[in-house]
Amino acid sequence: MKQTLIDLEQRVDDALVTDDRSGIDVLGYGEISTVLGATVDGRSYACKRLPPFPPGAIDRYRAACTAYLVALGERGIRTATSTIEIVETHGDPVIYCVQPIEDRLLAEHLRGADPDEAAAIARRLVSVIANAIDSRLGLDAQISNWALDTDDGFVYIDVTTPLIRDEAGDEMLDTDLFLASLPAFLRPGVRRFLLPEILGHYYDARAALLDLIGNLKKERLDNAIPAFLEEANHVVDPPITGKEISRYYRSDAVMWEILQRLRRTDRWWQRTIRRRGYPFLLPGKVDR
Ligand SMILES: Nc1ncnc2c1ncn2[C@@H]1O[C@H](COP(=O)(O)OP(=O)(O)OP(=O)(O)O)[C@@H](O)[C@H]1O
Ligand SMILES: [Mg+2]
Repeated sequence: MKQTLIDLEQRVDDALVTDDRSGIDVLGYGEISTVLGATVDGRSYACKRLPPFPPGAIDRYRAACTAYLVALGERGIRTATSTIEIVETHGDPVIYCVQPIEDRLLAEHLRGADPDEAAAIARRLVSVIANAIDSRLGLDAQISNWALDTDDGFVYIDVTTPLIRDEAGDEMLDTDLFLASLPAFLRPGVRRFLLPEILGHYYDARAALLDLIGNLKKERLDNAIPAFLEEANHVVDPPITGKEISRYYRSDAVMWEILQRLRRTDRWWQRTIRRRGYPFLLPGKVDR
């Protein structure tokens, strides 16, 4: 595995310089990680590459991940088997979180589901989410973060952002990680004014469910919205409204577009004016 990751990191490095992605298989672009496909001994893995960390931050990250996996397990949430690997090529070490490929992603399953099946999934998933989240354990509940096990139980795959707080209520994760892919001039303002609110949503069942439902539209799973809305409204108060969902979807789309433009501009600035490398793979245009 180690050698595969070293090779992969080399190919990512090349892609960062050339912008040519043909040497890598990108499964997903996240706010923090980039998910890359790799094969070892005939088995497929999702390798989640985190941004370069200052070496001192690695232990804290690993501890937060471990605590998060344990806490999710205690709440009855299965997680994809995840290993943290440190890859050293040149420069700062790079962290990869490696998981076997889950071949039954929930979003795909839901796409082919009939209304009864969609309703049953909504009922079970909403209950799993509502029972897990509290002010110290957060979830990014979006549909793209779940897979199904062979017995149809849910498996949570998005574990690279450990949303867990200590007894004092402080994030165990170094939250500057969220800021790493933002242009430097934005970071202080986001750190101070936006991040607490953004993070707070993951620790609030109503906000997490609104996010899940609003995001079904982006996933082109509009047909599942009524079932999820109905189930969510059995557990949240005040009820989530259709208007709230549309408003949420629009503001999320606008925010995402602005962020991506800022990042592309920053990349241009770093490469062309500052003449240095840009450390993130940015997605191309996304249809909304
Ligand atoms: N173990 C896995 N098996 C199959 N596909 C995966 C796996 N892990 C991730 N993926 C694919 O990559 C996508 C993104 O992965 P993930 O949710 O872990 O990170 P993210 O949301 O992109 O990152 P971040 O938390 O940094 O914002 C998933 O929605 C899924 O499509
Ligand atoms: Mg995700």
